Amino acid sequence: MQRIAVLTSGGDAPGMNAAVRAVVRCGLKAGLTVFAIRRGFEGLLEGRFEELSDYSVSGLMYAGGSAIECARCPEMLEPHGPEAAADILKRREIDGLITIGGDGTFRGALKIAECGIPIIGIPGTIDNDIPGTERTIGFDTACDTLSWVIQRLRDTAEAHHRTFIVEAMGRHSGWLALYGGLAGGADVILVPEVPWKPEDALATIRRRMREGRTFHLILIAEGAGRAIDLVSWLQEHTSGELEIRASIPGHIQRGGSPTTLDRILASRMGQHAVSALLEGRTSIMIGEACGRLVEVSLAEATDGCRMIDHELYQLALTVG
Ligand code: F6P
Repeated sequence: MQRIAVLTSGGDAPGMNAAVRAVVRCGLKAGLTVFAIRRGFEGLLEGRFEELSDYSVSGLMYAGGSAIECARCPEMLEPHGPEAAADILKRREIDGLITIGGDGTFRGALKIAECGIPIIGIPGTIDNDIPGTERTIGFDTACDTLSWVIQRLRDTAEAHHRTFIVEAMGRHSGWLALYGGLAGGADVILVPEVPWKPEDALATIRRRMREGRTFHLILIAEGAGRAIDLVSWLQEHTSGELEIRASIPGHIQRGGSPTTLDRILASRMGQHAVSALLEGRTSIMIGEACGRLVEVSLAEATDGCRMIDHELYQLALTVG
């Protein structure tokens, strides 16, 4: 193993840069030549390789987004995409690839690995929905951002006696809504993993009104439905007694400087990924279980979507 490459792919997540920094610095210390591939798999297919130095990743610990850029690349899901990517990597004499991203990234990575390129995955997504790891890079930061948003909406909701329907990111999973909503003090949290009806949300609002509450914060994960649809439903099913607003923080949840937890997780995973490549392992993802790093097969990491912790959901119902 002499030349390795790293890429970030899919939606960016805070802490991806810290992982790249760790890969580069650990790789260089081990005597490797390290390349970044700009714009994920799309950049790989376009040959956008760039050799990185120790200095080139300076300051990346704190930076949000991805300094080496991200893209979603549908070509990777077609048969010719992974084969073409593997050919390019072989021609460039890349002995191992580290891919940082979510489920789509790992599906592409697995197919490239099947074409003979050693690959290690690092989970980087605010959705925290990857099987085989209890935490993904970026999740902690996104939870902080979402709870910050909810806290601020509470100020205006209380001042105006309003009902806010806040839409959290999370395409297939309610992790972000659950953690951000619990920490931010949302009154109702709607997630894709738990069947819900708008009638139930309205019943909670009515109960709160009977208790004398003048404002309500309802958090809905995008995988569970859209905030604007719930606003319309509530408007139709109430007789003007509620002043309702939708709030969609959207990609704000993906931005910002990573939290300490994300920086440390990213650095540990980056280091572990380099060691795993050097020790000859492939087709695995670095995960975390009970605070320790673990290795799981990319096949397992791409097998469905990790569902929320139902005990925590019950706690949110109890204290929300
Ligand atoms: O996977 C991360 C995520 O932010 C999801 O929560 C969201 O559904 C999706 O990406 C949005 O993707 P895009 O930025 O490509 O619209």
